[in-house]
Amino acid sequence: MQSLLNKKIVLGISGGIAAYKSAELARLLIQEGASVQVVMTQAAQQFVTPVTMQALTGNPVYTSQWDSSIANNMAHIELSRAADAILIAPASADLMAKLSLGLADDLLTTLCLARDCPLLMAPAMNKQMWEHDATQRSVKRLIEDKVSLLGPASGIQACGEVGYGRMLEPAEITEQLIAFFQKKVLAGKRVLITAGPTFEAIDPVRGITNLSSGKMGFAIARAALEAGAQVHLVAGPCNQHTPLEASGKITRTNVVSAKEMHAATMQSTDCDIFFAVSAVADWGIEKPAKEKIKRQGKQAPSLEFIANPDILADVAKMVKTKGGKPHPYCVGFAAESTALLKHAQEKLQRKGIPMIVGNIGPNTFGSDLNELLIVEKNTSKKIAKSDKLQLARQLIQLVAKKI
Ligand code: CTP
Repeated sequence: MQSLLNKKIVLGISGGIAAYKSAELARLLIQEGASVQVVMTQAAQQFVTPVTMQALTGNPVYTSQWDSSIANNMAHIELSRAADAILIAPASADLMAKLSLGLADDLLTTLCLARDCPLLMAPAMNKQMWEHDATQRSVKRLIEDKVSLLGPASGIQACGEVGYGRMLEPAEITEQLIAFFQKKVLAGKRVLITAGPTFEAIDPVRGITNLSSGKMGFAIARAALEAGAQVHLVAGPCNQHTPLEASGKITRTNVVSAKEMHAATMQSTDCDIFFAVSAVADWGIEKPAKEKIKRQGKQAPSLEFIANPDILADVAKMVKTKGGKPHPYCVGFAAESTALLKHAQEKLQRKGIPMIVGNIGPNTFGSDLNELLIVEKNTSKKIAKSDKLQLARQLIQLVAKKI
């Protein structure tokens, strides 16, 4: 599902080399369902042409407040009235300085001043310009004026220097804009999540693992961040990017085995909600071979297994009551091949937790879609089939009401 459906975004582009990325940004916003109206400063047009932006957005591009073809010549008022948000990417040092002072000497700055919608900016400039006291003064004032700053990131810059000032990637800006529009039902809360599989070594080149892509756990991490939480993610070996990394509100510990996942999780139990989404291997190999086990004719090696700790049950043992409610609130997951409800209810009891989320259907591993069964002590209800991010958002809304 598109996360910016029906949102009207004014995309402001100011003069900076990162303006070439605004074309990709416009495309991503449209892909998420937004309608995009581009406004460019004079300097921006030195880097990317209005024709490019018009072709990508399907809308005329505004570049001047003196455009006599617009009825009443009131483009700035009309644009800011219709918008759900103004997003300026890239935001140059010059533009930030102007807006921090309330100057309005071109169309983009004028419509920012005339707006009654949120303003978000993705700064992009050379490291020295970003670090300059004057720019930092602008940043402080803009934050006081409730402008949301997305980034900048640190890295190699077009000028060859390395440091803060690089514009966030279009995908990161899109992720943050989507997050901006979500309800902040977990503002100020801390969420701990285990995600992905674990891998139990047999020898240096072999091991046993569980089927898990990590998609659901990472979707829950993203949904929790979108809802305003601070998130710590303990991830088994999986190929998922850390969501909303540039927000600075997520930390991630990568682990391999169940024992490592247990240790990393137990260090971070100071949280309000714990989601155990990981497919943890129930058994590890007692003594993994130090060297690769060589083939010995037709004889297969025998492996001695040892039970791994139950991470969720151990966190659940630490639960205290806060304001009459369990703290942290523990949510387990279950993927069963038969009798989901029965097994989920049994796990609820055995692990001593208030909620188990069951994956309905046998083939959810690696898929972007899922269907969930929410099982509590005396009730159960389905969350209809959807993509994992939508499901995660619904789950976060539900759990937020419990704490
Ligand atoms: N879990 C855990 N640590 C383990 C095993 C499971 O934290 N060693 C968590 C999972 O992350 C999940 C829940 O417990 O949230 C249920 O996992 P599951 O493997 O279904 O439960 P088990 O107790 O291992 O039961 P079984 O494998 O027999 O179904």
